[in-house]
Amino acid sequence: MNVTWTLGFPTGNEKGQYLTMDLGGTKLRVCWIKLNQRHGQTELDQDVYQFPSAVKTSDADTLWSFIADSLQDFVGKRSLQGTAENPLPLGFTFSYPASQDYIDHGVLQTWTKGLAIKGVEGEDAAGQLRDAMAKRNLPIRLVALINDTTGAMIASAYNDPDTIVGAIFGTGCNAAYMENVGSIRKMKIDLPPDTPMAINCEYGAFDNAHRVLPRTKYDVAIDEESPKPGEQSFEKLSAGLYLGEIFRQILLDLYERQVVLKGQDATSLKQPYALDTGFLSALENDPLPGVKAQFAELLKLKPTDEELWLCHRLAEIIAIRGARLCTCGISAICRMKGIKSGHVAADGSVANKHPTFKQRWAQAMGEVLDWPQDRKEDPITITSAEDGSGIGAAVIAAMTEERARQGN
Ligand code: BG6
Ligand code: GLC
Repeated sequence: MNVTWTLGFPTGNEKGQYLTMDLGGTKLRVCWIKLNQRHGQTELDQDVYQFPSAVKTSDADTLWSFIADSLQDFVGKRSLQGTAENPLPLGFTFSYPASQDYIDHGVLQTWTKGLAIKGVEGEDAAGQLRDAMAKRNLPIRLVALINDTTGAMIASAYNDPDTIVGAIFGTGCNAAYMENVGSIRKMKIDLPPDTPMAINCEYGAFDNAHRVLPRTKYDVAIDEESPKPGEQSFEKLSAGLYLGEIFRQILLDLYERQVVLKGQDATSLKQPYALDTGFLSALENDPLPGVKAQFAELLKLKPTDEELWLCHRLAEIIAIRGARLCTCGISAICRMKGIKSGHVAADGSVANKHPTFKQRWAQAMGEVLDWPQDRKEDPITITSAEDGSGIGAAVIAAMTEERARQGN
């Protein structure tokens, strides 16, 4: 449960032009955003820089050089004019757990989602980025470091006053909500107790001590073979990075016990993370010939129709467990805060691309929160927050600058 220094929801009137940058697990997205232009329109211009896989296991210098070079390329291509006196304001979405003493600071607690870059854990990621930008004399000023969940919540709240939570159902899983400063017992903050502060739950790390949730032997194997055994336990059962891998572990086990794919060469099935959530979606939803073709192409395997039925059922069970666990994270926040209705602003590949995720999530919400069976509509629903790392980061940067102008 990390404090974020995002103090309250936006008014919707925030204005200005901002650079934003989002460090995801596979790509770096840089945007130039103009908030609230003529007729209240927000304009967004973006470039995506592929995150070379070698960077994922490299060191701090390699990571920040790649990021600063990408920023330099982006502003250069557009001739964005920042100066030493008037630098371009930047909102940085850093979707990893960070301890923040203020909004433009963030000490990385631990890498998640498979990253293993040396020299960043325990260090201020904002400071490291600032140093890399200074080396290149980039006229850019880091205004705010935010989590993707906070970004999703604020981007949505910018237009939708019914927003209650920002959630990511993607490579990782996590959510943010608004808390009163007076209820944040672990912090002594010199602010009125009713000041709202966004909390980044980091609930992907829930139950790291394994006291609550049962795990299968496949879950245990995934954890032990990961770069961070014992960490992100909840995430390893429910997030997109792991769903395909759970399936692969089970299928490989069945193959090794000679239950399926007898006599076939299953070398490609032995490759960790060979299958992603997209493959599971296809297994559940595509017609048989398409699924067969995917097995042949990706794994060089020819399952029988019965084996495909088994795979379909497995994919379904894994996705149902994942979606229902994702419900638990959000319903826990709603129960604790007594929230009875509103919008969960969600982003991420599982929410956006898995065809049955939202429906399963909604069904489980009804069960956990005891909604009446004969309800006409669900009181709490998922809404799309596809631009949290862009609009959300820009709006938070604008809110931060406005507070600074007011001397808060
Ligand atoms: C993207 C957001 O759309 O979704 C990121 O821009 C966020 O900020 C990401 O981290 C989460 O989804 P995934 O599937 O890429 O982990
Ligand atoms: C992981 C990260 C968290 C992020 C989530 C979704 O759980 O630790 O910070 O919000 O993934 O991207």
